Amino acid sequence: MNAKNASAKKSASQAVVTFVDTPNKRSFEFPIIKGTIGPDVIDVRKLYAETGYFTYDPGYTSTGSCESQITYIDGDEGILLYRGYPIEDLAEHSTFMDVCYLLLYGELPTQEQHAKFEHDITYHTMLNEQINYFFRGFRRDSHPMAIMCGVVGALSAFYHDSTDITNPRHRMVASYRLIAKMPTIAAMAYKYSQGQPFIYPRNDLGFSENFLHMMFATPCETYDINPVLSQAMRRIFILHADHEQNASTSTVRLAGSSGANPYACIAAGIASLWGPAHGGANEAVLNMLGEIGSTNRIKEYVDKAKDPKDAFRLMGFGHRVYKSYDPRAKVLQAECHKVLKELGITDEPLLDLAMELEQIALSEPYFIEKKLYPNVDFYSGIILRAMGVPTSMFTALFALARTVGWVAQWNEMIEDPTQKIGRPRQLFTGEPERKYVPLDRRK
Ligand code: SDX
Repeated sequence: MNAKNASAKKSASQAVVTFVDTPNKRSFEFPIIKGTIGPDVIDVRKLYAETGYFTYDPGYTSTGSCESQITYIDGDEGILLYRGYPIEDLAEHSTFMDVCYLLLYGELPTQEQHAKFEHDITYHTMLNEQINYFFRGFRRDSHPMAIMCGVVGALSAFYHDSTDITNPRHRMVASYRLIAKMPTIAAMAYKYSQGQPFIYPRNDLGFSENFLHMMFATPCETYDINPVLSQAMRRIFILHADHEQNASTSTVRLAGSSGANPYACIAAGIASLWGPAHGGANEAVLNMLGEIGSTNRIKEYVDKAKDPKDAFRLMGFGHRVYKSYDPRAKVLQAECHKVLKELGITDEPLLDLAMELEQIALSEPYFIEKKLYPNVDFYSGIILRAMGVPTSMFTALFALARTVGWVAQWNEMIEDPTQKIGRPRQLFTGEPERKYVPLDRRK
């Protein structure tokens, strides 16, 4: 990828912070590095060598793991930018191919670049026919994310010609293959669970239309693609495409930092995304709404969510970065109404329940104080369910869309001249060295 070298944007500021080590009566200075927007960082790369201290930040709440130019989030203002473009503008006006090119190359494509990129992606959507046999090994009721982890990881067994990560062309080919093949694999996982034949991708369809066709067409009749649904699917893909250094993207970067092949790295990202605290939340939201069942039980669940002794959390609420409304959730809420109207669904109890839950939760002091708002996962599931996508497929769609973000961040990491293997340290509180006792002397 020809992303501009990040260091060209970074200014090596003269500002420093002074670290006073009071117990040892010493002090140290560490440089502050300024970015273009957002918090500056304290460069602590020499901290251990100079002071003998590690930093301690489980969950990386205050730690920058890398320098990036791809996505910026202002959690207080509810701003999300892909390469500087507001997510609202991209969701409104761009194709998903537009956004993929933007994330990968740093600029919106010209019409000619868009056409070529879309052609190249389209002509990589088909899978090696051998891969069909992988599916036969799974039970029909396997969770689609289990299938996605297995099949995507196995892609490296088929594409030896694009696993030399030091070769920019190999990286580009692998990136295109992953973006192009994820919808095919996800749709195959769905078809397999339905006991229906796989539907091949078609080169005459756009990315979102192709996915809907692979999901819902059958060999028995033509499947007419509803433009309102394909537009909703396009927006869902755009909104989920990237999101800075979230858990799954950080997993992809950490896996990639060892030099692992891109297919293995993306499989690791899929595994991390599956968790209910992360991409698995969209499935968990629908399950939670189903469990709540009716508006008169909302207060019971909001109270459970507030109870520090109860592990229950309101799924689809809260975010590590957004301390205001997730801008993606706003777009998805509007899209939800459009899709339900198009499908003639005038009475969707889950949407009524979700909106009532949102109103109640956002008026609760607990949620206000902790700045817990609906996130991207709160409304996405309702749209997908209305479109006929089963709950178990929600996170597979999230993974499909996030693949472009993962590969863009992976490429940026590989191209970073300062990149090295990720290897965090620890605060050790276990046993100090002690004398070994052979088994026959242990009482
Ligand atoms: C995604 O990182 C990303 O960018 C992710 C993502 C992306 O695009 O990649 O945006 C996608 O993963 C969205 C988040 C989906 N997850 C959920 O909806 C699951 C429910 N949300 C929570 O599990 C939680 O809000 C997290 C995991 C999203 C964020 O957790 P943090 O940042 O670690 O916050 P925290 O757990 O420290 O919570 C702070 C406080 C805690 O209370 P105290 O310990 O301070 O008393 O808020 C409470 C939490 O108990 N809290 C909640 C809550 N979320 C946080 N209480 C009730 N319900 C919730 N949903």
